[in-house]
Amino acid sequence: MLAFAVFIGLMLGLKYFLTPDSWREYGPYRGKALTEIADKVPKYVDMETCAMCHDSIAELKNQGLHKLIQCELCHGPGYLHVEDDENNKMKIPEGSGVCIECHAKNAARPDKIIKQVDVAEHSEGEECINCHNPHEPWL
Ligand code: HEC
Ligand code: HEC
Ligand code: HEC
Ligand code: HEC
Repeated sequence: MLAFAVFIGLMLGLKYFLTPDSWREYGPYRGKALTEIADKVPKYVDMETCAMCHDSIAELKNQGLHKLIQCELCHGPGYLHVEDDENNKMKIPEGSGVCIECHAKNAARPDKIIKQVDVAEHSEGEECINCHNPHEPWL
């Protein structure tokens, strides 16, 4: 009986110390979670922002079949670069990996929407960008 009472006491103590301050401030969650989420900086901007400084590439891309593909899909998140382009270089994708993600033959994916190629047969070991411009694949 005493052991049981000690156990309950211990648990209540733990609950007291482990419950975050802002718990149930607004509802059954930490009130502080709201400000924490609101304070997060978005990592991706959008194509229009990239186009402000890279207008010729954006124009070229808009003419071709890649017009709907976001710059950041290939170049990674741009939020630091757009604030300070000198100190925050964008990633330039190397090799064919980024192209293969969308264009490699995959029986589970419909070929009607995104054209697929048998990579080994089609490129014969060469990199995709030796023949296709990433910003306008038919240039
Ligand atoms: C405020 C202007 C500005 C904005 C906005 C901007 N850039 Fe840049 N970017 C530059 C400058 C300046 C350079 C360096 C000179 C150059 O290579 O043209 C550069 C270089 C680059 C490079 C080449 C990096 C290298 O190592 O050679 C890539 C890729 C790039 N930007 C992608 C992007 C993408 C994607 C976006 C949108 C998320 C973007 N940029 C938005 C100004 C900008
Ligand atoms: C499908 C993937 C892909 C997309 C989408 C894409 N890029 Fe690129 N980008 C590349 C690759 C690959 C290279 C390297 C090309 C090379 O080495 O010849 C590159 C090179 C660059 C460069 C540096 C070399 C140059 O051509 O001046 C800049 C700047 C750049 N991209 C900006 C952009 C911007 C801005 C957008 C959106 C309007 C964009 N890219 C969209 C794949 C992409
Ligand atoms: C996010 C997915 C995605 C990535 C990554 C991507 N593409 Fe595309 N690509 C598309 C879509 C969507 C189209 C337009 C539909 C189509 O024609 O297949 C397209 C069209 C093409 C076409 C023209 C096909 C046709 O219908 O005539 C070629 C060639 C091409 N891409 C090559 C590349 C190369 C090279 C890379 C890498 C630098 C690449 N793509 C990266 C989605 C992607
Ligand atoms: C040696 C040059 C060369 C290389 C390397 C190359 N391509 Fe192509 N690609 C072509 C030519 C030429 C065509 C048009 C004729 C054809 O469909 O084969 C084409 C067509 C395509 C098409 C359209 C296929 C269709 O069904 O209409 C896609 C998608 C494509 N390539 C993606 C890629 C990808 C992804 C890579 C890298 C893995 C790549 N290519 C590497 C030359 C090349």
